[in-house]
Amino acid sequence: MATLQAIKYSRGKLLVLDQLRLPHENHYDEVSTAEEAFDCIRSMRVRGAPAIAIVAALAHAVELHNGDCTATEPEEVIAHIEKKLDYLKESRPTAVDLSNAITLLKLATRAANLEGLAHPEAKEAILNTYIKTAEEILAKDLHNNTSIGSHGAAWLQQQYNASFERPISVLTHCNTGSLATSGHGTALGIIRTLHSEGLLKHAYCTETRPYNQGSRLTSFELVFEGIPSTLICDSMAGALFNLHRERMNIGAVIVGADRVVRNGDTANKIGTYQLAVLARHHGVKFVVAAPTTSIDLETETGSAIEIEERKREELTQISGAIVSEDGTVDTSKTARVAIADQRIGVWNPAFDVTPHELIDAIVTERGTVVKGADGKFDFSQVLPERL
Ligand code: MRU
Repeated sequence: MATLQAIKYSRGKLLVLDQLRLPHENHYDEVSTAEEAFDCIRSMRVRGAPAIAIVAALAHAVELHNGDCTATEPEEVIAHIEKKLDYLKESRPTAVDLSNAITLLKLATRAANLEGLAHPEAKEAILNTYIKTAEEILAKDLHNNTSIGSHGAAWLQQQYNASFERPISVLTHCNTGSLATSGHGTALGIIRTLHSEGLLKHAYCTETRPYNQGSRLTSFELVFEGIPSTLICDSMAGALFNLHRERMNIGAVIVGADRVVRNGDTANKIGTYQLAVLARHHGVKFVVAAPTTSIDLETETGSAIEIEERKREELTQISGAIVSEDGTVDTSKTARVAIADQRIGVWNPAFDVTPHELIDAIVTERGTVVKGADGKFDFSQVLPERL
């Protein structure tokens, strides 16, 4: 079966699916420099915490492969690489995967084995180390996501042992699937795994205003995968939970993460927090799917997370394909339309923080972390090397 791929890479060539054109058009942009990657990330042609990090790392790998670095001395080569990485880090601030990838790339490059090497071999060794490390980030992400899928499905099955005789339904927010990662996805990866194991009754996805990652991207992925699914507006979640016991059998809300900090507080797409409050009120499990690359143990609590604010037009305007009178969608004709008085004041934070108290489980590729008797998350089982 064909799979959705946001990122296509072979050494020296990086193609990135333009997510602003989805679901109407499948168009890949060639991204060959750090500057092009910065623009691609900032404009959200690629988005999702892991995908942002992968595109930044690989775009720089492509430009190094293509001979962009004119420095010759090892220290100068490393300085060149680090300057570009520091620049890329500024493209979007909230997701920690990007800065974790940059730290890893810097450490690996500095650790390149240069013993007995002079120019040009020393330079080659540094560039090759960078390129290999960037390629490993891509390969590991896919592996991480399939592991998250298995751990998450197993944890949910355990929780709902009694009711799992009939499969559960789940609600997800934003887009955390193949389009937000190298493939399979994190929260959507768990949903995929539940579906493939016959454990999923139905997936609900929120529209995810204002950028509509849910309606534009997640619904596209769910339909593509043939997963039984329904799109709801963000404002319908409470009503859905209210009906869940009798009719809907909603077992869990499953979301992704842009940054999980030391105490478990989690920054994710705006609207996640209100879903967590609603889930707790209705006795629905709230599960965060986060590869360890999305964990930031340097930050103690969620109040210290920088939340990106985006432009007003995301609320006051919308773009889409033209629908004719008979309901057919003409994907060749798109339009941007005003949906609010253009003079209204706008507040547009791209993320919010869900306090750890409202989170039941954080599923990583190394296992599922739950709170101890003290009500605290302890990441030592999944990240012993970072504690
Ligand atoms: O603004 P976006 O679309 O980059 O936000 C994406 C999210 O909030 C995702 O939930 C998160 O990055 C996890 S993606 C696996």
